[in-house]
Amino acid sequence: MGVQNDRKTQSLYGSGSRRVTHLDLLKAKHDSQRWPMLTAYDALTAKVFDDTGVPVLLVGDSAANVVYGYDTTVQVTIEQLLPLVQAVVRGSSRAMVVADMPFGSYQSSREQALETATRFLKEGGAHAVKLEGGAAVAAQVEAIVQAGIPVMGHLGLTPQSVHALGGYRVQGRAEAADRVAADAKALEAAGAFALVLEVIPAELAARITANSRIPTIGIGAGASCDAQVLVWQDLAGLTAEPGPKFVKRYANFRTTLTAAVDQFAAEVADGIYPAPEHSYK
Ligand code: KIV
Repeated sequence: MGVQNDRKTQSLYGSGSRRVTHLDLLKAKHDSQRWPMLTAYDALTAKVFDDTGVPVLLVGDSAANVVYGYDTTVQVTIEQLLPLVQAVVRGSSRAMVVADMPFGSYQSSREQALETATRFLKEGGAHAVKLEGGAAVAAQVEAIVQAGIPVMGHLGLTPQSVHALGGYRVQGRAEAADRVAADAKALEAAGAFALVLEVIPAELAARITANSRIPTIGIGAGASCDAQVLVWQDLAGLTAEPGPKFVKRYANFRTTLTAAVDQFAAEVADGIYPAPEHSYK
């Protein structure tokens, strides 16, 4: 991120040392100010991202893949995500921390959804929650919002529904576009403060963004969204290649880390590490 963009992002914080709120994000949309969102799962990286000025950190259920090693996000549980939310909240001081509600923790009823969201705020310390789905979960969104908890929606390729979708495919093409647009309207009407749009045609994302009062956050949804999100390990080049088409790798951590570990192993084998300066008298 360039210096100028960085300054723009910092200004989302407003004055003082308070955390970003959904009102700052609404204002950013009004001011046509774009912003980045990143996933975070631990205190150390959360602090790096927070210090950089990223205004929203998502403790995504992608933790299922990048932290817990599952092949889909379906398996991860509230109990597995809660400690990660706590760590990210502890590691950050200015970003809004959004907790992803895992599969099976909100679909049954308004009551179940509110109970889960409440746990992420009370036990996790999150400032908002995210859930997947459109009109089908609008009642849940409404119940959570009415209880005073900001909700981020998630439309398009919703990975928790991977089995129903038949794989990780582009959503909202052709006649399916109107349904995604209607779902966006339903979530906005239910009180969502922002919408993740994942892997949908750029044209559809542009249409939804233009017709929404709330910010859209794209991931594989083109350049017209109000914000963009990436899983940080994708951005850093830590996840295996080839990744999805929408991923841009801004660094090559996998190569760097592999080289560091190779050198450590070689130096241990050769008796080079630890050297005298790493040893105590
Ligand atoms: O779980 C996650 O990381 C997400 C983002 C990719 C939006 O939902």
